[in-house]
Amino acid sequence: PLVTTKELLLDAQANGYAVGAFNVENMEMVQAVAAAAEELRSPVIMQTTPSTVRYAGLDYFYANVRAAAEKAGVPIVMHLDHGSSYELAMQAYRTGYTSIMIDGSHGNFEENIEVSRAVANACHPSGIPVEAELGKVGGKEDDLEAGEGNPYTDPDEAARFVELTKVDSLAVAIGTAHGVYKGIPKLDVERLSEIRQAVSIPLVLHGTSGVPDETVQECIRRGICKVNYATDLRIAFTKGVRSVFDTDPDTIDPKKYNAAGREQVKQYVMEKIKVCMSQNRA
Ligand code: 13P
Ligand code: ZN
Ligand code: NA
Repeated sequence: PLVTTKELLLDAQANGYAVGAFNVENMEMVQAVAAAAEELRSPVIMQTTPSTVRYAGLDYFYANVRAAAEKAGVPIVMHLDHGSSYELAMQAYRTGYTSIMIDGSHGNFEENIEVSRAVANACHPSGIPVEAELGKVGGKEDDLEAGEGNPYTDPDEAARFVELTKVDSLAVAIGTAHGVYKGIPKLDVERLSEIRQAVSIPLVLHGTSGVPDETVQECIRRGICKVNYATDLRIAFTKGVRSVFDTDPDTIDPKKYNAAGREQVKQYVMEKIKVCMSQNRA
């Protein structure tokens, strides 16, 4: 069934695991994530960024994920990732998304508070939880380049931010970056523990493609309850599609190469569900 992130993330927080959040960009990726979650009896979050939404529309992705969720025997969330404005957040909310991220991290602290609080106020009456971001995750955030300046989340600011906005979960900047890393990323896990001490709501890790599995698990032990993967799903899907054209360049049936992409994504998501330790939780 389609559920919200509220209970999922609080259960993860209470029991020391995390829920994987996987960016989906077509129907096959939706099917792959749902199949992986079902096979491992895991809750799962599917999410779309603004550029993905522009590709097909909120309604298309909502319909796909909803169809998957209605068939699945495990809880599935449809989440807006990096919601770039109050208006887009409200459109996703009205479309039926069951979890909303508003990313005000590109503005200053006060602007971030203002937009995050507004979205939380609008979503909470119908029980839709809101994720916000404080600090700057490196690399490209969807189409936007992260800005300059001390990018990491400050624990005291985090406490004030959560109190003033009433958001339900918080994306932290501790050294991760969207996209592929040059070398092995070094995360400020001490800072993560300090943030966890300062705020009680579930914390979210962005930019996880390329972060070693042991590091992800250390972050989960220190308070991360939602782990975002995007780039590696693109890589897996494309690898599957390419393998079909490598062996048979004359393939013309989209079902053939899309099914190969789907299978690669499913295998990848199953691995990451195990890293998140969410298997057999649904
Ligand atoms: P990656 O593309 O690095 O996995 O980041 C995913 C993410 O944070 C989506 O919001
Ligand atoms: Zn992100
Ligand atoms: Na990354």
